[in-house]
Amino acid sequence: MLRIELSGAQRTLLIPLYARALDYRSPRSILHDRSADEIARRIDFDFSTLGHWRGSPLLAVRARQLDEWASEYLTRRPGATVLNLGCGLDARFERVRPPPSVRWFDVDYPEVIDLRRNFYSETPNHRMLATSLTAPEWLGAVDPGGPGLAIADGVFEYMAEGEVAGLLGRLVERWSEGEVAFDVMGRRTVRSVNRRLDATVGGRIVWSADDLRSVDALEPRLRRTAARSVFETPYTPAAFRTLAAVLFFSPGLRRAIRLLRYEFP
Ligand SMILES: C[S@@+](CC[C@H](N)C(=O)[O-])C[C@H]1O[C@@H](n2cnc3c(N)ncnc32)[C@H](O)[C@@H]1O
Repeated sequence: MLRIELSGAQRTLLIPLYARALDYRSPRSILHDRSADEIARRIDFDFSTLGHWRGSPLLAVRARQLDEWASEYLTRRPGATVLNLGCGLDARFERVRPPPSVRWFDVDYPEVIDLRRNFYSETPNHRMLATSLTAPEWLGAVDPGGPGLAIADGVFEYMAEGEVAGLLGRLVERWSEGEVAFDVMGRRTVRSVNRRLDATVGGRIVWSADDLRSVDALEPRLRRTAARSVFETPYTPAAFRTLAAVLFFSPGLRRAIRLLRYEFP
């Protein structure tokens, strides 16, 4: 069993990991992420202290939608470079199964990458980068020019808005064309999530947005091509879609977690 020596936002990786493990154990699995289940079983952490993290199927939905967008992009751009930003212990590379022509980087803090090395190994086309996303230098290790795809699954929430904008700007400068896909939480959701983070793993969500125009404005060279609530993806369980259909007049629910997809140039 592996002890977890992480702090702050790093420890939040346990939440989507456990959500995907629970999803794997469910007869109606959305993601079929066997690695999540295996990794969760090898970590010395009492996951029952997370409660059932009521929205857990929605975290699997979030991952699935981002996987699908990644697969779609890589079908069109099989020579692309992929950045899985704030990868935590996520097995997106295994789920998406990119063609061998893709160069894939899993990026997270050094402490997280150290932990990750217990479960994943590198190949020439699948590497890990141990860095804070806010450090400007690390993109130098990533092939310039593009095409490029950057995915951030439950990550930008932990960065200040200016840090998200700075990173998006550096991506757009590194690559001449590409896509960026990430999620954004609404303000009301953040209040309740932060209360639960305080009571469980720690960490604090600092960036959220109610009006998507404020997200679009972070990097004007990005064009938004999709915005989808986790309640209305093709992978959302019927019970959640019904709930949403009944309650969608509530802006808080509509904005709870939205998945955004952008392209450039
Ligand atoms: C909620 S977890 C999500 C992990 C992963 N994407 C997943 O779906 O399992 C948030 C992740 O973002 C990473 N993260 C947050 N801020 C970061 C930063 N400034 N630099 C690098 N990683 C960061 C954390 O270390 C953590 O692994």
